[in-house]
Amino acid sequence: MIIRTLGAGAGGGLPQWNCGCSLCRAARSGVIAPMTQSSAAISIDGAAWALLNASPDLRAQMAATSALHPVSLRGSPVQAVVLTNADVDHIAGLLTLREKTPFRLFATPGTLAVLDDNPVFRVLDPSLVTQHAIVLDQPFYPLPGLEVTAYAVPGKIALYLESGTPDTKVIGDQTIGLRLSSDRGVVHYLPGCADLPDWLCATLAEADVVMFDGTVWADDDMQRTGTGAKTGARMGHLAMSGAGGSLARLAGLKARRIFTHINNTNPVLMPDSAELGAIVAAGWEIAHDGMEVAL
Ligand code: MLT
Ligand code: MN
Ligand code: ZN
Repeated sequence: MIIRTLGAGAGGGLPQWNCGCSLCRAARSGVIAPMTQSSAAISIDGAAWALLNASPDLRAQMAATSALHPVSLRGSPVQAVVLTNADVDHIAGLLTLREKTPFRLFATPGTLAVLDDNPVFRVLDPSLVTQHAIVLDQPFYPLPGLEVTAYAVPGKIALYLESGTPDTKVIGDQTIGLRLSSDRGVVHYLPGCADLPDWLCATLAEADVVMFDGTVWADDDMQRTGTGAKTGARMGHLAMSGAGGSLARLAGLKARRIFTHINNTNPVLMPDSAELGAIVAAGWEIAHDGMEVAL
C-alpha cells in the first residue's frame, strides 16, 4: 500500500493568496516549502489509484505526480475518489475531474447531498462518475485489494453551509475518518477532526500509520499571528498542543504518526521553531506535498 500526500496544507494552502503572515512570506521567498491543499492518493499496486479528497489544487497535484498521469490516449489511473467531508478544500477538485473519464465517487449521504445541491457538480457526467453512498462502519472497496471503512468523527458542517453558530463537534456523517487496510497493514486518515474522545483513541490504537488533522498548533494560532479571530475549535479542528490536544491524546499509539491538513498559520512549519521541536520529540512527522508512505 502506498499513500502519497498530494497536498499537506489546510484550506488556503501555503502561501495563501491573501496572507502576508511570516510563514506565507517564508514560503513565497523559498525559505520553506509551499503546500497545496489537502488531498492524498492511495494505491495497492502502484498502477490503480484512489484519491482521498479532491482539492482545488488537484490539477497541479496530478501534473506533479507521474503515477497519476494517463497511460493511454484518454483515461486515468484514478479509479475512485473518497471524500471525508464537503469542505471546499476537499471537493472543489472534483470540477477538475470532468472531461468524460469514468471513476467511482464515494462519500456519505450527507456529503453527496451537498454535491447534489450544487448544480456545478453536474459537470461530472453521472453515467461515467457513479456515486456510491458510504455506509458508516461498513467496509467498501474503492480499489482491488483496498478495504476502506469510514467512521464518524467529531466535526462540523462545511463553512459555507453554516448559519448562526454550528455545533463544532457533531458526530454524524459530515466528517469522517477512513480506515484503509490491505494485506500490508492499516492506515487511518483523518484530515479533519475536532476532538479525540477515548473511543476514537481506541479506534486508532490498531493502526500502523495515523495521518491526523494538523491544522493548528494551539487553539489561538490565528489570534496569535494576527491573521484572524477564529479558534481551531470553532473551525472544527483539534489543536496539537494542550491537555486534550492530539499530541497528548495520541501519545500511546504504536503507529507512525503524521500530521496533515496543516494551516499556513501553524508554527510547526517553521524549521527552527520550538513547536516543531515539540512534535518531533513526541514522535510525530509533518506531511509535505509529495510525501510517500509505503506499507
Ligand atoms: C477547514 O478545514 O476548516 C475548511 O477547509 C475551512 C475552509 O473551508 O476554508
Ligand atoms: Mn480544510
Ligand atoms: Zn499566512
